[in-house]
Amino acid sequence: MTEKMTEKIKETQKGKQMAKNLSSQFLELAKPTKQKFLFPNHFISTQDLTREQILSLLNTATLLGQALKQGDKNSDDSQGAAGPTKLPPLLANKTIINLFFENSTRTRTSFDLAVRKLGGSTLNFASSTSSVEKGETLVDTAKNIVAMGAHGIVVRHSSAGSPQFLASNLEIPVINAGDGFHEHPTQALLDAFTMREKLGDLAGKRVVILGDIAHSRVARSNIHVLKKLGATVAVSGPPTLLPPNPEALGVESSFRVESLLESADVVMTLRIQRERQNKMQLPSLDEYTRFWGLTKERASRLKPGAIILHPGPINRGVEVDAEVADGDRSVILHQVASGILVRMAVLAHVCEPKGTAQWLAEVSGQSSSQSTSRSTSGGVS
Ligand code: CP
Repeated sequence: MTEKMTEKIKETQKGKQMAKNLSSQFLELAKPTKQKFLFPNHFISTQDLTREQILSLLNTATLLGQALKQGDKNSDDSQGAAGPTKLPPLLANKTIINLFFENSTRTRTSFDLAVRKLGGSTLNFASSTSSVEKGETLVDTAKNIVAMGAHGIVVRHSSAGSPQFLASNLEIPVINAGDGFHEHPTQALLDAFTMREKLGDLAGKRVVILGDIAHSRVARSNIHVLKKLGATVAVSGPPTLLPPNPEALGVESSFRVESLLESADVVMTLRIQRERQNKMQLPSLDEYTRFWGLTKERASRLKPGAIILHPGPINRGVEVDAEVADGDRSVILHQVASGILVRMAVLAHVCEPKGTAQWLAEVSGQSSSQSTSRSTSGGVS
């Protein structure tokens, strides 16, 4: 047997075991809650997620990734090494609306692809060409879309709290794709997914987040996820772009980035968001780069194996040197690819929990009825 085949068998056995563990607890984790805005009814914030729910989402994303990679190849695998790993059509006959009131490349496109890969259809709503321009409110817009038969809404809005407001007014799942300064929960999940793929278990790992922490929904969502997964987090940036009391978030902070780099397993550098600052809170972009930019010289201080993340879009030469963004330590495009898997997992959890439980049971080699009866009886392994 070739080394490649042995690896494939091991990988598949690992996947089966992961699916088995997950399928026996999935319906318990996916049980609707009386607290209306919370996961798994909706997906609004990482602050509300438990460690088990985060792991369930990440593991579902891993299994969906395996299914995506293997696809139809399994049907003629004469070694019998692979399981039934085609992507499940969990969103067949479902329409998900991308309701974006702010620009997006990565998030909107990857939700679009995630829905389609799971067999659903999407409709991309552009606020600039809609009746919002005539004064229609957010909730009226969303209710009209629901009346047309939508099964889920993915919303990005500049006002913090808008996804929760929609969740309290609609009878279909709402997924937060970024709300003002508040949260960007799927970004944090895809970041954790990428870190886990590159570094393994995140317990004990040290993550340094650089830049505009005060205005960053990405930083906030990441801090909640990373701490729940056992990582330690440190932040650095100009005093005007750090929250007044970063320690209240359970993170270390320093105005001097150099003091944090040598111990970092991960450095996440954030975009300078000029559109979210009341006025430019920096003397100049050059000064930001001089003191906090992830330059080639600063990146050279990182220990072997440390990785560099950026949620995008990148301001090359401002928060990160082009050479660093494109260098060996950079996993920026891996983050983008992970976004599709994580968003498939979120959609599966909130829009089709029963079908997902059944698929997990099939992947693990159990019968779906066995899995369902164990899960609904409340056993969490
Ligand atoms: N990271 C991120 O949210 O990118 P987009 O604004 O392109 O969606």
